[in-house]
Amino acid sequence: MAIHNFNFYNPTRILFGQGQIEKIDKYIPKQAKILITYGGGSVKRFGTLAKVLTALGDRQYAEFGGIEPNPVYETLMKAVDKIKKEGFDYILAVGGGSVIDGTKFIAAAAKFPGDPINIFAKGVGQGQAIQEALPFASVLTLPATASEMNSGGVITFKEKQAKLSFGSPYTFPQFSVLDPELTYTLPQRQLNNGICDAFVHVLEAYLTQPIEAMIQDGWSETALRTLIKLSPQIKEGHNDYAVRANFMWTCTQALNGFMSPGVPEDWSTHNLGHEITAFNGTDHAKTLTPIILATMKVRKDEKFAKIVQYAENVWQIQAGDDEAKYQAAIQATEDFFKSVDMPVRLAEIGVNAEDIDYLVQQLERHQMTALGENRSQTLEISRQIYQTAL
Ligand code: NZQ
Ligand code: ZN
Repeated sequence: MAIHNFNFYNPTRILFGQGQIEKIDKYIPKQAKILITYGGGSVKRFGTLAKVLTALGDRQYAEFGGIEPNPVYETLMKAVDKIKKEGFDYILAVGGGSVIDGTKFIAAAAKFPGDPINIFAKGVGQGQAIQEALPFASVLTLPATASEMNSGGVITFKEKQAKLSFGSPYTFPQFSVLDPELTYTLPQRQLNNGICDAFVHVLEAYLTQPIEAMIQDGWSETALRTLIKLSPQIKEGHNDYAVRANFMWTCTQALNGFMSPGVPEDWSTHNLGHEITAFNGTDHAKTLTPIILATMKVRKDEKFAKIVQYAENVWQIQAGDDEAKYQAAIQATEDFFKSVDMPVRLAEIGVNAEDIDYLVQQLERHQMTALGENRSQTLEISRQIYQTAL
């Protein structure tokens, strides 16, 4: 076993640290006509937008606010129309994963020949590849998704109760500003979501099968230990710059591709979780914690060796045989999620036994019928995972 062949590409520049918003001036062309995108208003309330405007100086700009958490297709299409009517040539996203994901879609849709619904497949469009996008950048306000340094996005289709992802080599941000001080205004709920979203991103590319990918495994284990170690200090109002700096960079690293080139990747927990958010609006990260615990149980045979490695190297569990280590690792993970007030059972997020048929039907509708690193997670196994997570 060895690292699989890979083709790794990540062109996003990172401007990291206190006061880095002012560097925007250097990296956006002076003559650019900019559309600034943001969410429900936190960037106005907490002064981030004002700092961005100062940095932009006398460049021409307009604002597009109101991008929802779990960004909605129809809202984003309003920004696409605005770009087409008013002729913007650069987009600057200021916000969390939802604003950045939404901006990726807007950037691609503004240049897309034909109906942008066709960017998506899986029951809503034709799945045509993105060939071009407007240049865009981001100012990150919420460490969690790593959208600031990857090329993927997840868009919500309200009517169809679907959350569908897209990606392309053209939808990397040109640069992202990561100022840890921008996280000081985050409520505990979003801090906890960020810790666990990043934690599960690492697990999705780590809890598969061992292939002697030493750097990828070591990097993943360090990220997991870092999140565990920092979590008691990632508290609302506890504005320790060193803690927030490590937190922010760990979340970015968790899904910028650096930990996972050439290794098997799962992503079934995300696939099952997205159906729950589409169904009842649960925060993204809160759908992941119950599902990954159940996945570790239901797909024990496939994941056993890696879960034992996780027990030893992340949780420092050395006592007992492999079975004991496997069990202890699941328990430690559950205790960790509880310690940051995250759900460990679906009942805690409003999903009950009678909802499972619907969730499995939605997976089928979205062609999620062979999930996981081995494409072995059938609808029947997904059903077992939902049931085990109850
Ligand atoms: O909308 P505003 O008013 O800005 O408030 C937001 C929002 O209500 C608030 N917030 C953001 N920064 C803040 C702040 N409040 C106070 N202070 C700040 N500094 O936080 C709320 C949640 O924001 P959102 O962007 O929705 O959260 P998150 O960053 O967790 O993004 C979640 C979205 O990203 C997708 C998820 O599916 C979900 O749609 N994901 C994207 C991924 C990617 N592109 O690679 C991977 C992830 O697995 C995930 O699927
Ligand atoms: Zn996630």
